[in-house]
Amino acid sequence: MEQKIEALLSEMTLDEKIGQMCQVDPGVFGTEEEVIEAVRKGQLGSLLNLIGAGKVNEIQRIAVEESRLGIPLIIGRDVIHGYRTIFPIPLGMAASWNEDLIREAASIAAKEAASEGINWTFAPMIDVSRDPRWGRIAESGGEDPLLNAMIARAMVQGFQGDDLANPLTIAACAKHYIGYGAAEGGRDYNTTMIPDIELYNVYLPPYRAAVNAGVATVMTAFNEINGIPASGHQRNVRGILKKDLGFDGFVVSDWASIQEMIDHGFAADEKHAAQLGIAAGVDMEMSSRTYANHLKALVEEGKVKMEWIDDAVRRILRVKFRLGLFDNPYVDESLADSVLVNPRHLEVARKLAEESIVLLKNKNELLPLKKGTKVALIGPMADQPYEQLGTWIFDGNENDSKSVLDAFYEYNGANNTFFAEGLAYTRDKSTKGFRAVERAIAQADVVVAVVGEEAILSGEAKSLAELDFVGAQNQLLELAASKGKPLIMVVMSGRPGGLYKTRHLADAILYAWHPGTMAGPAIVNLIFGEAVPSAKLPVTFPKGEGQVPIYYAHKMSGRPADSTSWTYIDDIPVKAVQHSLGNTNHTLDYGFKPLYPFGYGLSYTTFEYSDISLSAKTIQIGDVIKVSATITNTGKREGTEIVQLYVRDLVGSYTRPVRELKDFKRITLKPGESERVTFELNSSQLGFYHPNGRYVIEPGDFHVWIAPNAADGLMGKFRLE
Ligand code: BGC
Repeated sequence: MEQKIEALLSEMTLDEKIGQMCQVDPGVFGTEEEVIEAVRKGQLGSLLNLIGAGKVNEIQRIAVEESRLGIPLIIGRDVIHGYRTIFPIPLGMAASWNEDLIREAASIAAKEAASEGINWTFAPMIDVSRDPRWGRIAESGGEDPLLNAMIARAMVQGFQGDDLANPLTIAACAKHYIGYGAAEGGRDYNTTMIPDIELYNVYLPPYRAAVNAGVATVMTAFNEINGIPASGHQRNVRGILKKDLGFDGFVVSDWASIQEMIDHGFAADEKHAAQLGIAAGVDMEMSSRTYANHLKALVEEGKVKMEWIDDAVRRILRVKFRLGLFDNPYVDESLADSVLVNPRHLEVARKLAEESIVLLKNKNELLPLKKGTKVALIGPMADQPYEQLGTWIFDGNENDSKSVLDAFYEYNGANNTFFAEGLAYTRDKSTKGFRAVERAIAQADVVVAVVGEEAILSGEAKSLAELDFVGAQNQLLELAASKGKPLIMVVMSGRPGGLYKTRHLADAILYAWHPGTMAGPAIVNLIFGEAVPSAKLPVTFPKGEGQVPIYYAHKMSGRPADSTSWTYIDDIPVKAVQHSLGNTNHTLDYGFKPLYPFGYGLSYTTFEYSDISLSAKTIQIGDVIKVSATITNTGKREGTEIVQLYVRDLVGSYTRPVRELKDFKRITLKPGESERVTFELNSSQLGFYHPNGRYVIEPGDFHVWIAPNAADGLMGKFRLE
């Protein structure tokens, strides 16, 4: 393949090389004739947002048969959490902690997308996200580097399979490199300040995992980092990603992010932006045209090295060769019919939705309900076939969706379901629908309130300043709770929020994120016990926006807060135990604990953790230590528990987090059954990166936990020598 690339490269003119480095959306670029003409002249290497097997084949035929060198186009599209069959939003998928199922979902998305002519998806998004105000937290794997790395691996493998040349696989794109999730104030596109020690230890690990999994492409981000835009960051792209991590695919800019370096105040004009982009190592420019308009002159003026251009083109051709596009550029136009939303895909979507919905509260074991229970189904998200799909679903179709109402009618019967949404949409402030809600509740034994936020309230540029439920939803929940009937709250949302002021109203809470096409059946199966919740939070649940950022892997500080220094009532500090002890790292209104910790989630059964043991008290660098505990199902149902392994390095040459997730395992236990769970922790997992990017393993004392979430668990100690 490398020989073929060299042979082709040697035949290419500079114009043709630059053409390969340009990607446009045909609808934005110009008329159909203009697009065809540019493809014919070899001025475009890629199109995004062109779908339909027939249309793609038509334009591909022009590239292959009518351009001078016949280089095929690569067709890109945002296939983020499903193509037609929509899976839970990525944050929801992350809550499943189920690598196999996430991989399967990505492979289904790839098949569906490929059947419509797509070769390349702009996913997975693996930006560590610690701010629920940021709308794009919905698209991420949450706050933890290890969990995001797992998702990176699962999705890259799922999209790309074993062989990219297989017509049912597509190239993946790890994005947005890098640090996009750290936007100040959670406002999208905003400035980030990320010290190198954070860059290496928190933001980079998912990208390392994506590269190790063979990701074909990487997208540079919109944000600036420490004063340099991510799309013009030579050290980060050309240095860390390409050289240090050994990434051999190509780098694409985000939409116009090369040109936007002018707005950042980093580039003087378009020409300068092009120069900065290529110098940084961005191989393909998405949408803006600075490469098309200026690279040639920049090369001729000696401002851009020819070897940078050649490197970019080699990388782009390499991915096209890997995709098998030179041998088989066309898509089989008969595929889509049998592939799109077939029953097996819907089955996986339902299962993943069930596994992504987190049970946060279940007072007096209210859930599961018995089939046939008379239920008042209320709330503005109860019958929203489109909104339940969540953000970034270009090709999702609400007609495929089953809403919660549909599923209640189907499973529990229309006679047992009294529906009144109460609010027309989540931001609705009018209470005129509340009378109907009262009538529905009067006829029922239990209330199920489906609240939250529509798809449009999370995702790109959809940041929020406040995390409480919008509109009159709090009043609706208060009304529902006041009727003396058990209240089950189901929340559909792109972010963790809404519960601080409402959780006391509900007897049970299912946090559903945006569950996708099969939201209804998944939620109904959980409510009636056809499925048992197993999901765990992929992100710390803050009390409110004023507590953000809050994440489990925080540093200790010199004045750590804990319950011995103050008297806490309901997590709120009310009185210092002793004046001098009271000056700790908390706020007077929210205390120091989040609403729910990372990794938290309940089941319809209970699990007891006991007897932690370690295979050694002391290990040497190079050794493996085994950490074991017994997990017992102490409840009355079979259930799955996600058992988590955390570590703390007590003293470091740089301070280390109070806990770091190192591994996890899913175990399924029958009532009364126990399992001895053993984790093998290699000393190589105990190190961290210094700000210069060097990985160091420092001898010393470690704590280790086998835990049901980041705040609890059994602790052991060992020493690394
Ligand atoms: C987003 C990317 C996306 C691209 C193409 C941008 O606005 O930030 O995530 O892949 O558009 O649609």
